[in-house]
Amino acid sequence: MAGQTVTIFGGSGFIGRYVVSRLADRGWTVRVAVRHPRQAHFLKPLGNVGQIVPLRARLQSDTEVRAAVQGADAVINLVGILAAGGPQTFEAVQHLGAKRIAEAAAAEGIDRFVQISAIGADPQGEAEYARTKGLGEELVRAAIPEAVILRPSIVFGPEDGFFNRFAAMARLAPALPLIGGGKTKFQPVYVGDVADAVVAGLERSDARGKTFELGGPHIYSFKELLQLLLNTIRRRRLLVPVPWAIAYAQGSLLQLLPDPPLTRDQVKLLEQDNVVAADALTLADLGIDTPHACEVIIPTYLERYRPGGRFVPQTPEG
Ligand SMILES: NC(=O)c1ccc[n+]([C@@H]2O[C@H](COP(=O)([O-])OP(=O)(O)OC[C@H]3O[C@@H](n4cnc5c(N)ncnc54)[C@H](OP(=O)(O)O)[C@@H]3O)[C@@H](O)[C@H]2O)c1
Repeated sequence: MAGQTVTIFGGSGFIGRYVVSRLADRGWTVRVAVRHPRQAHFLKPLGNVGQIVPLRARLQSDTEVRAAVQGADAVINLVGILAAGGPQTFEAVQHLGAKRIAEAAAAEGIDRFVQISAIGADPQGEAEYARTKGLGEELVRAAIPEAVILRPSIVFGPEDGFFNRFAAMARLAPALPLIGGGKTKFQPVYVGDVADAVVAGLERSDARGKTFELGGPHIYSFKELLQLLLNTIRRRRLLVPVPWAIAYAQGSLLQLLPDPPLTRDQVKLLEQDNVVAADALTLADLGIDTPHACEVIIPTYLERYRPGGRFVPQTPEG
């Protein structure tokens, strides 16, 4: 793809940095469209001089979004939020933001478009996250029928929000919460596999116009994931079941904090299993046949949460 330009909205985020790196290796010129381009400068060494260009394009601004896609050959939308705050509402970012990008791309004649959604996306969904992801998908498809939609389950990797957050909590707290009893099922998928799926979605002609659900090789309950985490960081902590009603009350309070650890909407999301549907197209349909298991990957980045850190000889904490 030498000589071609792709605009990646949200390219500086957790998943975005892996996508940027892969596309730069494959010869794409990469525009990284974000609110804070300075915070995307760390991406520049992943390419040759001038190959990776951070630029400011807030999804709330028509002018900035149009400028970001002008003259590009392909567009990827990775922007999503887990909690609303200020101008970052679910409507503005995941629904109208996705629409704005897709319509700007369509106006430029761009038909190579990858939209990152999420398992559970549903225009009629009860959780705002799921509902706006679903509406975003619909509007992207309406603007660009050839768009490829990728719906990951929970994504893990060195900069992830899930394992790192609970590992940090386990360092300080005597117990971890099993929201709703910890029975919700997940199919965690490795960030490198998600990035490979994005590249395949962009470059494979047989992916055009299709939706794929991305999950790793195993399904775990929320409780099993926390047990795996605690084994990995060699800490013993109580796992305390939190009934849904109490979790909702906690979410209502905690969502008042900046960067809230839990919101009501997230509790609502946790009421649904987050696994690849039986009839969905998957990673395998994108040529990724052996996705990575989290047992293999998470010890490589969670060691630092072990008692004494990563360089101390370890025994289980008593
Ligand atoms: N991580 C997961 O487990 C997971 C699971 C399922 C689906 N997904 C989806 O995958 C996508 C990427 O997730 P992620 O974990 O990589 O997210 P992330 O780390 O939070 O990154 C979000 C990116 O979007 C940019 N951004 C945020 N608001 C913006 C706005 N209004 N205008 C322009 N850019 C904006 C951020 O940069 P600035 O702050 O500089 O703007 C950042 O580059 C999201 O759509 C998410 O819903 C993630």
